[in-house]
Amino acid sequence: MAGRVENKVAFITGAARGQGRAAAVRLAEEGADIIAIDVDKQLPEVPYPTATAEDLAETVRLVEKLGRRVVADTCDVRDAAKLASVVAAGVAELGRLDIVLANAGVAILGPWHTVTSESMRATVDINLIGTWNTVMAALPPILAAGNGGSIILTSSANGLKAGPWTLAYSASKYALTGMAKSFAMELAKDRIRVNSVHPGAVDTPMAEFTSAPGGFIETGTAENPNLLGMCNSWLPGLMPAREIANAVLFLASDETAWITGHALAVDGGGTQY
Ligand SMILES: NC(=O)c1ccc[n+]([C@@H]2O[C@H](COP(=O)([O-])OP(=O)(O)OC[C@H]3O[C@@H](n4cnc5c(N)ncnc54)[C@H](O)[C@@H]3O)[C@@H](O)[C@H]2O)c1
Repeated sequence: MAGRVENKVAFITGAARGQGRAAAVRLAEEGADIIAIDVDKQLPEVPYPTATAEDLAETVRLVEKLGRRVVADTCDVRDAAKLASVVAAGVAELGRLDIVLANAGVAILGPWHTVTSESMRATVDINLIGTWNTVMAALPPILAAGNGGSIILTSSANGLKAGPWTLAYSASKYALTGMAKSFAMELAKDRIRVNSVHPGAVDTPMAEFTSAPGGFIETGTAENPNLLGMCNSWLPGLMPAREIANAVLFLASDETAWITGHALAVDGGGTQY
């Protein structure tokens, strides 16, 4: 039986681990080949470990184990020129590009008075401009092929409802909600759909590092206990990354050929009040 994205090619940023890796595997399970990028060094602006080349190699191994092809490279989403060259190399090898998952992102969190101009700029540069860079790198081959496509921007529950202690992060993720809708309107005539996904808390290295003891939740709650638990999932437990990958697959597939400009919350209900 043909997979739900059989013989399509997906470009995924932040693919070395967490939700990016889960999406690479899920799309490959349903027949897609993958162009994968992530960083291979610690980003100095980010107060927790970012991905390594070994993490990206593991994603490659998992995709290849499923019998799908993968072109992987290390690249920072702030580097627009390198993104374009990775996409070009991927399309040259895999033959096409249909799906984009702009997933790379960082969470530099804490109460409002801990936000610095450096952390604000790094968050906007990576989460917002890096996402724009990703879409801009992917559009030329998608438009040239004329087959349409599906672009998915990973925002956050905090792109629909602001959370406490996430000032820069919420600002960047709200911006992505608007960016997805603007791109969606303008690209609809070329049958390119653009949607945003809004995860609640997901079981990934980001959530592990940012919610560790002494982290932003503890410091924020100590100052302002009334705000604890905003946007929490109504469903019990911490969401596995595969649940977001399932939503990404749905939006990537032709099952959603008439869904565009949509902000899809996958958050156990947390933003739906
Ligand atoms: N985990 C959560 O609870 C949660 C909730 C809502 C939204 N999100 C969003 O989901 C996306 C995926 O996060 P995750 O949970 O898998 O976390 P993660 O930290 O495990 O994965 C993010 C990946 O992005 C990569 N990355 C960061 N900066 C980059 C850059 N400048 N260039 C290229 N790659 C870069 C990291 O190296 C990492 O591999 C992010 O956009 C995040 O903001 C996460």
